[in-house]
Amino acid sequence: MSATSRGWRRRVPGELTEPVAAVTVRAPGKVNLALAVGRLRADGYHEVVSVLHAVSLSDEVVAEPGPGVSVSVAGEGADAVPTGRDNLAARAAYALARFLRREPAVHLTLRKAIPVAGGMAGGSADAAAALLACSVLWDSRLSREHLLELAAGLGSDVPFGVLGGTAVATGRGARLAPALSRGTFHWVLALAAGGLSTPAVYGQLDRLRGGSDVPAPRVPPALMAALRSGDAAALGIALGNDLQEAALALRPALRLTLEAGADAGALAGVVAGSGPTCAFLARDERHATDVAARLSAAGVCRTLRRAYGPVSGARVVNGPA
Ligand code: C5P
Repeated sequence: MSATSRGWRRRVPGELTEPVAAVTVRAPGKVNLALAVGRLRADGYHEVVSVLHAVSLSDEVVAEPGPGVSVSVAGEGADAVPTGRDNLAARAAYALARFLRREPAVHLTLRKAIPVAGGMAGGSADAAAALLACSVLWDSRLSREHLLELAAGLGSDVPFGVLGGTAVATGRGARLAPALSRGTFHWVLALAAGGLSTPAVYGQLDRLRGGSDVPAPRVPPALMAALRSGDAAALGIALGNDLQEAALALRPALRLTLEAGADAGALAGVVAGSGPTCAFLARDERHATDVAARLSAAGVCRTLRRAYGPVSGARVVNGPA
């Protein structure tokens, strides 16, 4: 095993300095501002057009040198996260090691704040964070293009965990184009007890549609205009999610949560991705605090978080940049 693969870092070519002890990367959760779901494709995915918005509710992944790949999880929903080879962050480490033709040797600690199976792409954020953390720990100097390519192989939402900001996703959701967005939007996130399975929600949508013809999904012009102008009220009117009805069919209690958000004065509310988290848009930070307090009193969710967006994608917060 070379010194570099043991965690030594080359600052100038040929010169080895101190070993890299740990790299911490933060990656954001997301809210789909729009999620238009088209036909079911032959590969089992649905054709989508989605406008993704990275929010400040984020997970951290700490990567440390270790024998083999191991995972430990702390924080929000930690008990529900698998720690074996099927953990998405572990899969990211294996995929990167394979790409680099090196031994996978890392211990990953996941510090979770994004709800597990909550529709906010928490697992994808962890995978994006693990990719970046391992690439720094292993001093791989991986280009962003390669990082995004590996990310797409791990799941539809993983590239957005790398990129962050605001983006339009097409295809199965992994093809991204950055979108213009002005200012900061403030959210109240209502976290539910228990998660929803993404394939189950897509499957429910297919059942609701009953085999009828589905138009090709389109980018919603009013939403893009609201983002460009930074107009929260217009954004609220334009929010939309084709998976919402399916999530509500599987979890009818979410209707009460959405109603309570409207009663609490939110500009708008929407199920986040495949749910069951509900996202409520506020006018500004103060309004978000007010909406959160009213929603909390309504007792229609497990817990509440305030967040803002857009925020950046996976980034190193300690360890070598
Ligand atoms: O890509 P990812 O692993 O996140 O997708 C999880 C599951 O969600 C897929 O196996 C599929 O059942 C469903 N899905 C879909 N269409 C998409 C994205 C995901 O049907 N565009």
